[in-house]
Amino acid sequence: MTDSANSMWGGRFASGPDAIMEAINASIGFDRRLAAQDIEGSRAHAAMLGATGIVEANDVEAIREGLLTVLSEIEAGTFEFSTALEDIHMNVEARLRELIGEPAGRLHTARSRNDQVALDFRMWVRDQCDAAVSGIVALQKALLSQAEAGADWVMPGFTHLQTAQPVTWGHHMMAYVEMLGRDASRFADARARMNECPLGAAALAGTSFPIDRHATAAALAFDAPAANSLDAVADRDFALEFLAASSICAMHLSRFAEELVIWSSAQFRFVAMSDRFSTGSSIMPQKKNPDAAELVRAKIGRILGATVGLFTVMKGLPLTYSKDMQEDKEQVFDAADSLMLALAAMEGMVRDMTANPEALRVAAASGFSTATDLADWLVREAGLPFREAHHVTGALVAMAEEQGCDLPDLSLDQMKSAHGAITEAVFDVLGVDNSVRSRTSYGGTAPDQVRAQIARWKEQLA
Ligand code: ARG
Repeated sequence: MTDSANSMWGGRFASGPDAIMEAINASIGFDRRLAAQDIEGSRAHAAMLGATGIVEANDVEAIREGLLTVLSEIEAGTFEFSTALEDIHMNVEARLRELIGEPAGRLHTARSRNDQVALDFRMWVRDQCDAAVSGIVALQKALLSQAEAGADWVMPGFTHLQTAQPVTWGHHMMAYVEMLGRDASRFADARARMNECPLGAAALAGTSFPIDRHATAAALAFDAPAANSLDAVADRDFALEFLAASSICAMHLSRFAEELVIWSSAQFRFVAMSDRFSTGSSIMPQKKNPDAAELVRAKIGRILGATVGLFTVMKGLPLTYSKDMQEDKEQVFDAADSLMLALAAMEGMVRDMTANPEALRVAAASGFSTATDLADWLVREAGLPFREAHHVTGALVAMAEEQGCDLPDLSLDQMKSAHGAITEAVFDVLGVDNSVRSRTSYGGTAPDQVRAQIARWKEQLA
């Protein structure tokens, strides 16, 4: 039992909370991460209270200076956070009162912790949208360097993780540039939608004081004040959108990470990861493990978990604020940290990794990867319907498989035995370089197409 009632709202309370009540109720252990946003919001609110004549100018000035002192104490690490004061909002205000006395009590005029926390969290998530876009762009630039270096390196393209058709290394890198481009636009969209200011919604109904919500919204770089005070304090869709965008981005990173794990194995040797992004084994001296890639592959678990977690907290909550909503923050913090770290680790890995064009080429040529080119040749040069060409090619693949060779190793006579119209010219399309060079359709894997996409993205990211 803490005996004294809370100094912020203890008017009607005879005793303080039970220790367990305090433990379940307090959010200061994590919402201290909102300190900078909390103080910025309070400064804007105080300035508005002064400009509208709701609070006298000298009190506003004392509040302004006091808040700056509190901020510097927090930044210096000298601020003493108190669990009894529950959360960041009351911790800051209590310290302000220690510093400046009575005027501190005027700061909370025409405001509630409900609009305060909605504001702080929104500003924090807004910053994270910007950080995500920066992290994504940095990774895209690393991928562009890889794509440029290997715009014409042939490698196997896979479906079902079975060799399908030859593609280029540059094309594969650029596939992720596209995915990440959509990820960045999702964060930008979410940011634009969340950029309405909840401050001034007060507890839920607005206020009878003549506040200027347009002024505080502008001071805090919002596009407009939120138009409905109930909505402003009740919704956390902005955080859910951030988490949804984070989950999709983390899913993309996870797929690429998985490829890096496979590609760096002794069986593939498509890439060598740098020492800086690998670890050794304490027992097997030969090992170089792609731990960073594995951890990026796994981060989706926490991020998607946070998404499901917050949806579950929010579903079924009646309007407006319920204390359940205090459970919105920790998981978003963790998801954001995980995403930023995953993006940075992926950028580092991509910058440092060395592709092995020789191994890529050998793999590209194996597994009958140019069978489709052969079938297409039969359609184009011998006038066969595609289905028949597919059948003839299948027979040749079976023949090659039986002889333990690849398609280009079959003799012309063997080719002709499958279909009389086949000529020497067919061997031109059976080479992997010719195969990729022929795929010049828009968005195709031909090196010239890939270079055009690289140029477009370089301009876009410049
Ligand atoms: N710590 C609270 C939270 O994170 C702040 C809002 C409290 N509001 C209230 N009516 N008790 O949600």
